[in-house]
Amino acid sequence: MKRFLMFCIIPCLMALMQINGQTTGNNYVNQFVIIANNPGPVISKDIYGHFSEHLGTCIYGGIWVGPNSKIPNTYGIRNDVLFALREIRVPTLRWPGGCFADTYHWRDGIGPQNKRASIINVHWGGVTEDNSFGTHEFMKLIELLGCDAYINGNLGSGTVQEMAEWVEYLTNDSESPVTRLRKENGQDTPWKVRYWAIGNENWGCGGNMTDEYYAGIMRQYSTYLRNYGNNRLYRIACGPYGDNFQWTETLMKDASTRDLFQGISIHYYSVVDGWNYKGSATKFDEREWFETFRLNYDIERIIIGHKNIMDCYDPDKTKGLVIDEWGNWFVVEPGTNPGFLYQQNTLRDAITAAIHLNIFNRHADRIKMANLAQMVNVLQSVILTKDDKMILTPTYYVFKMFRDHQNARLLTTDLKCEDYIFGDKKIPAISASASISNEGKILITLANLNPGKDIVISCPVIGFTIKNINGQILTAEQMNAHNTFENPDNVKTIEFKGFKVKDDIITVTLPSKSVVALELR
Ligand code: AHR
Repeated sequence: MKRFLMFCIIPCLMALMQINGQTTGNNYVNQFVIIANNPGPVISKDIYGHFSEHLGTCIYGGIWVGPNSKIPNTYGIRNDVLFALREIRVPTLRWPGGCFADTYHWRDGIGPQNKRASIINVHWGGVTEDNSFGTHEFMKLIELLGCDAYINGNLGSGTVQEMAEWVEYLTNDSESPVTRLRKENGQDTPWKVRYWAIGNENWGCGGNMTDEYYAGIMRQYSTYLRNYGNNRLYRIACGPYGDNFQWTETLMKDASTRDLFQGISIHYYSVVDGWNYKGSATKFDEREWFETFRLNYDIERIIIGHKNIMDCYDPDKTKGLVIDEWGNWFVVEPGTNPGFLYQQNTLRDAITAAIHLNIFNRHADRIKMANLAQMVNVLQSVILTKDDKMILTPTYYVFKMFRDHQNARLLTTDLKCEDYIFGDKKIPAISASASISNEGKILITLANLNPGKDIVISCPVIGFTIKNINGQILTAEQMNAHNTFENPDNVKTIEFKGFKVKDDIITVTLPSKSVVALELR
């Protein structure tokens, strides 16, 4: 019956609904058809994950101020940031890097803080890292956020023994020199840490390895990362950057390698006009606005490429794709340390977040986790801090609007929409996805990328009786609208009423350059 629905009824219904999804004169009839009564895979909550590296002021200043700080804190973690992060329901947090992870030696960051070794953070500005934020502080942050830890081990410059003992230190309940050390440092019972990355960008900052070489080393590391008690490890092999499909093929094709990891990561940043230019986060024209979204959309091609390879070797989808670094990468704010990657965040970044999260939702059959780079003060952050002040970025509000997709079930949808054309290039003007929660609530998330045109879209919801709709919108007059420490509420979500409902068809008027969330009951 399910197959009959999937292959016969649903396509026919969609075809019928889409008869008008075409140009009539100058008016394209935009449609987003939602089939509500045949939910698909669960959208892993971890798709809404974050990433915090020892880089610039992400950890120091942004999250960690220390227990003696005048900034209100809980065990050294700033309260304003903590409370804001709880609101977006951070499901998972990756740490300590990034490139930093492959220089990090976890024993430097345990024990009395005044006795910890200071090191140089060679990747990020050459600043002194005093290791005052280490394993115990990170696990306290995890506890206070109520989320899962995702620890990135050091394969590039560490040893197998070092990574294996880190797993043991955190998760083993038995008596051993390593677990005794944990107890001496104040933690009697082990923590639960499921997600472990076996190196970071080992094709680059993590050791400049070839795919074959990494596959061999990964095999060795993974063997010694053990399950203790009921802590089942989810080992994540370092995957490639972007569309280097060969790397994924190398890891997936070798059956003996395959047994040793449960997930494979990819990294992808949207970098306008390449790494030598990157563009400004706040001073850009429509060409750069368009180009950012064109690059954002490209992640779907990359995901499909990796999925196709994984499907060949793992048709039952037992292994997950983990996009553990994604986002816009612009030049640093003028006057800031180039090694700190501090950038502002505008309405453009909010639409970027919506495009990515909608794509990740739609590939929930394979994507297990995704982590925005990065959580505070680095790259496309959800939060910026300056001394005791904090602002929420437009990207933050998108994570809040989308949070109920977490652990909901993806709905089959079909989007037919007009193009957003700039020069000789075009991209879909609308990004969309929909899910249904266990309680039967539908969440539809939409974005209109066109900065100069409101777009009307018809959303027939099949197999669901709409009783009530709540709408939220994030938009602004200017493409580069953003929040500042002087004007922190310039861009934020407000109630949205730009829709009509008749016969379970919602007609939505999406204002130009906006993100909209509709909650249907
Ligand atoms: O997120 C910043 C850096 O980008 C990370 O450290 C690295 O993994 C990537 O190249």
